[in-house]
Amino acid sequence: MKILAIETSCDETAICLADSNKNTQEVRILGNALSSQIEIHAQYGGVFPTLAKRAHAEKIVPLIEEVFTVIGIKKNTKPISFDESLLSFLDEKESELKSHLVPFFAQFTKPDIDAIAVTVGPGLEPALWVGVNTARALSVIWGIPIIPINHMEGHFVTAQFVQKEKNSFSLSPLSYPVLGLLVSGGHTEIIFSEKEGVYKKIGQTRDDAVGEAFDKVARMLGLPYPGGPAVSKLAKQWRNQKKENTITLPRPMLHSGDYDFSFSGIKTAVLYTIRDITDNNSRELTDTEKKMIACEFENAVVEVLIKKTRNASEEYSAQTIIVGGGVAGNTYLKSELTKVFEQSDITLLFPEQWLSTDNAIMIAMAGALKIFSQKIETITPKDLKADGNMSF
Ligand code: KG4
Ligand code: ZN
Repeated sequence: MKILAIETSCDETAICLADSNKNTQEVRILGNALSSQIEIHAQYGGVFPTLAKRAHAEKIVPLIEEVFTVIGIKKNTKPISFDESLLSFLDEKESELKSHLVPFFAQFTKPDIDAIAVTVGPGLEPALWVGVNTARALSVIWGIPIIPINHMEGHFVTAQFVQKEKNSFSLSPLSYPVLGLLVSGGHTEIIFSEKEGVYKKIGQTRDDAVGEAFDKVARMLGLPYPGGPAVSKLAKQWRNQKKENTITLPRPMLHSGDYDFSFSGIKTAVLYTIRDITDNNSRELTDTEKKMIACEFENAVVEVLIKKTRNASEEYSAQTIIVGGGVAGNTYLKSELTKVFEQSDITLLFPEQWLSTDNAIMIAMAGALKIFSQKIETITPKDLKADGNMSF
């Protein structure tokens, strides 16, 4: 089955066309396109929702066209007539999107696509709506069913697919129970899954997400957004020098006895540390100080993530641990988690590094898994809604 996947939950507009094969349990990527809004949001040090929505609305149709072009779906030479009144639901809030969709439908006849998998939440609601409304438009004009996808389920399933060739992924069977450590810019949660497709959240952050904390600390250190990779790079430089670190930061909720997290306190602790060192910001941090802060910060958050994951794995007798989300690309988290679990019977799965941050391939994979297990809950376009606070 050919799946057109759409992802617009945060600051990446992403489209993927994938062929899912239930018999071989494989997903082949036919075309993939992504437009990042990093430059737009960099000046704010975080994602600005109305700007995100506008950028999604400008980019999403050109990205679909880009994917179509790559796989050889051609524009018609003559304009195609279609019932434009079916798109009137876009008039009120999505006029920009509509201005791209109308010429699009006049140029392309329905391609060979069996389903649309679209992220419906969680995320920034105005941003999510752009993807949702695009899916609704494609569905009403071309008569293609929609499979709504939870963005976090997308992060959860990514590591289950093993890359075989450049564009081909194969589903590897999981030993249950499975625990998911989902760590991104918007979420930090531990998910328990007793069987495929059934999820229970057993812990989450009470304030900032871990990726958000990386981004905020990056900003304090004068590093670019998104801050995770930049902070991690500095941390590594200090760690490699094997010198004593004179900075100490708290490990919030390390001993709380539950699976919840809190990262806003550590961010504030970094702020105060910087103020103390720089005599109330009367001078700049030195490179060495920046590296020490970055290293201690990364050590602290990784220690908390690992302790909670390990405790949960014991209590829930996990056979498999899946890590997902942008922070799953953090090499220190990966190496420390690997050390903890390499002597155990637990299988630890990480996504391919390039698939850990938001993309549409993970949404296609989540759709494919539903197709493989025949758990497809399609929804009529009219009933499809974005839900910014969607949860497991
Ligand atoms: O999953 P994602 O692309 O978006 C959300 O769903 O939020 O995650 C983005 C987050 C950002 O906060 C970014 O700083 C963080 O993931 N991130 C990292 C790394 N790569 C991305 N954090 C730590 N280390 C990294 N290598
Ligand atoms: Zn994400």
